[in-house]
Amino acid sequence: MNAILGVGGGIAAYKSAELARALMERGLRVQVVLTPAAERFITPLTFAALTGRKVITDLFASGSAEETLSSAIEHIAVAQDNDVLVVAPTTADLMARLARGHANDFLSTTYLAFTVPVVLAPAMNTNMWMHPATQENLAILRKRGHVIIEPEEGILACGMTGPGRLAEPDRIADIVASLGLKLHDLEGETVLVTAGPTQEPLDPVRYISNRSSGKMGYALAQAAAQRGARVILVSGPVQLPAPHGVLFIPVHTAAEMRNAVMEHLGETSIILKAAAVADYHVSRVPQHKIKKTAMRMSLELDPTPDILAELGQKKGDRLLVGFAAETENLVAGARQKLESKNCDMVVANLVNQDGTGFESDQNEVVLVLRTGEAIPLARAPKREIADRIFDQALKLRLALHAAQ
Ligand SMILES: Cc1cc2nc3c(=O)[nH]c(=O)nc-3n(C[C@H](O)[C@H](O)[C@H](O)COP(=O)(O)O)c2cc1C
Repeated sequence: MNAILGVGGGIAAYKSAELARALMERGLRVQVVLTPAAERFITPLTFAALTGRKVITDLFASGSAEETLSSAIEHIAVAQDNDVLVVAPTTADLMARLARGHANDFLSTTYLAFTVPVVLAPAMNTNMWMHPATQENLAILRKRGHVIIEPEEGILACGMTGPGRLAEPDRIADIVASLGLKLHDLEGETVLVTAGPTQEPLDPVRYISNRSSGKMGYALAQAAAQRGARVILVSGPVQLPAPHGVLFIPVHTAAEMRNAVMEHLGETSIILKAAAVADYHVSRVPQHKIKKTAMRMSLELDPTPDILAELGQKKGDRLLVGFAAETENLVAGARQKLESKNCDMVVANLVNQDGTGFESDQNEVVLVLRTGEAIPLARAPKREIADRIFDQALKLRLALHAAQ
C-alpha cells in the first residue's frame, strides 16, 4: 500500500519523521509532501534519507517552463498513485485550507485531487484547537468522512496543558495500516445498514420520534463502502449527507423501513440494524391536525413491526447485527436481545439517563457475540468503532462457519 505523508508547519513536525518510519515498518511505501511552513521546522533531507524517495515541497518548480509544468501535474499523479493520504501534524491553517478547498500549495492541491481515505492528525496550541473556527473546520472535515485522530492532552511546547499534542506516531501508523489492510476485505459483500430514527405520525403535522442522530449507522455505511462492499443504506430522517457510493433509501416510518429492508434482504450478506426504530405508532392517524382543547387527551398506540425479529427468522446464513441502547444492565440486556431476536452480534451502548449521548461523534460500546463473548470497545470516534464492528463481524462469521 502506498501512502502520502503530508507534513504541516507545526512544532510536532519533528514527530512526523518517526511517523514515516512507523508507517514503513507496517509495510507502507511513503511519499512525503512538506508544506513550505513545514520546511521551516524539518528538512526534506531527513525524510528523503528515511524513505529513500524524493520529497515534494513545491507546487511551482523554480526551473524551466517544462519543469514547472511537470511539477504542476505531479500532484495529480501523486494523488492517483496512492491509497491513503495522512496529514500529520495537520496545522490549524491546513485544517482551514482543506475544509474550504484551497489549493495554494502542493499538499492542499493534492488533497483536492484525492479520492481515497484521508487521515488527519491535528496538533496545535490548546486555544487554537478549542477555537470555534478550528472546531467548525473539524466538523466539516469529519462530515466529509475523513478519519480524524484527535490531539492528545498533555503539556504542550507553549507551556499550556490541555488537548493539542500530536497523537503518538505508533498509534497513527496503526490506524493507517489497519485502514489499508481492510480496504478490500468486504469486497463481494452486500451490506445493508439501517440508520437514524423513524418518525411515526400523530397527525399531518406532528410525529413521535427519538434522539437518534444516525451517525453510527452512517459511519458503518461509510466504513463498509470504503472496505469494498456494495452498501444499501435505509435511513430515517437525519441531518447527514448520504455517504459517497451507497444505495440510499430514505424512509420515515417503521413500516416504510421494514418494507425497504425486506425488499432488499435477498441481495444482502450482512445486515446492521443501527436505526432507532419507534416501538409504537398511533393506531389511527387523523386526516386533519389535532386541535388543542382544555381536555386531557390520550393516544392509543399499536406496536410497530419488529424488523429485527423478522430478520432473525428470515436471515438464513446472513450475518445479523442488532444494536441495543440501554440505560442499565448493558450486557445482560444485549444478551437477551441477541437470543430473542436471533442475532449474531448485538452492539450495546449505554445511553445516559437524560437521553444524551446519541448525538455524539464518539461512542463506547460492548460487542456481545453469539459465541458468548462480550468485547468492550473503548471510547472512540464512531467511524473507528464502525471498523471494529466489521473486524469482529468477519471474525465471527469465520468462527460460526468453522463450528458448523
Ligand atoms: C514556532 C512556531 C510554532 C508553530 N506551531 C504550530 C502548531 O503546533 N500548530 C499549528 O497549527 N500551527 C503552528 N504554527 C503556525 C503555523 O506554522 C502557520 O499557521 C503556518 O502558516 C502553517 O502552514 P501550513 O499549514 O501550510 O503548514 C507555529 C508557528 C511557529 C512560528
